[in-house]
Amino acid sequence: MKKIALFASGRGSNLMNILASMQNGCLANLAEAVLVFSNQPQAPVLAKAEALGLAVHCIPSRGKKRLDFDAEVLDLLEKYRPDYIVLAGYMRVLSAPFVAAYAGRIVNIHPADTQVHQGLGAYKWAFEQGLEETKITVHLVDQGLDTGPIIAQAPVNLAGVKDLAEVERRGLAVEHQLYPQALYQLFSSSKNKQ
Ligand code: GRF
Repeated sequence: MKKIALFASGRGSNLMNILASMQNGCLANLAEAVLVFSNQPQAPVLAKAEALGLAVHCIPSRGKKRLDFDAEVLDLLEKYRPDYIVLAGYMRVLSAPFVAAYAGRIVNIHPADTQVHQGLGAYKWAFEQGLEETKITVHLVDQGLDTGPIIAQAPVNLAGVKDLAEVERRGLAVEHQLYPQALYQLFSSSKNKQ
């Protein structure tokens, strides 16, 4: 079983969906959540994960220097020693020392093709561009912003969308399919077996 630390900053629909996949879906018997972490004390995901009886921690990032904050998080992780860190709406850029400490073992989901659009506001961007289709990307995190090696991508059909909320609805439905599948692929590949 891979030990997973899940990071989120907000609502946590991807995080909760991944937890469900660990319980009853494609990640069952393959991965277990050892920690749910947030940098946002108000994040709705915290109470949702606590209700499942998981180890849940929050270290507020507000007002802290990036390196100092990430050092605190690395200290916390020492206690849980995860095999992988899964970012699911974690709204922080990771510092170089953090990425180096878990090189090749940090995964992120980005709601666009990372080769075309990086950073925030990807659904808004797709809507404003009037795209007929966008993509969801699951990738490993490297030192850049949404530049790491792609693990999996899936298209989102945007034909006929009327507003941004609809773009997000269609996109999230694809995210919820893709992320557990991509993690399955990553965790079950023999190269990564431990
Ligand atoms: C998702 O769109 C994800 O791709 C992006 O942030 C959003 C998080 O949503 N990185 P949720 O918290 O998982 O519901």
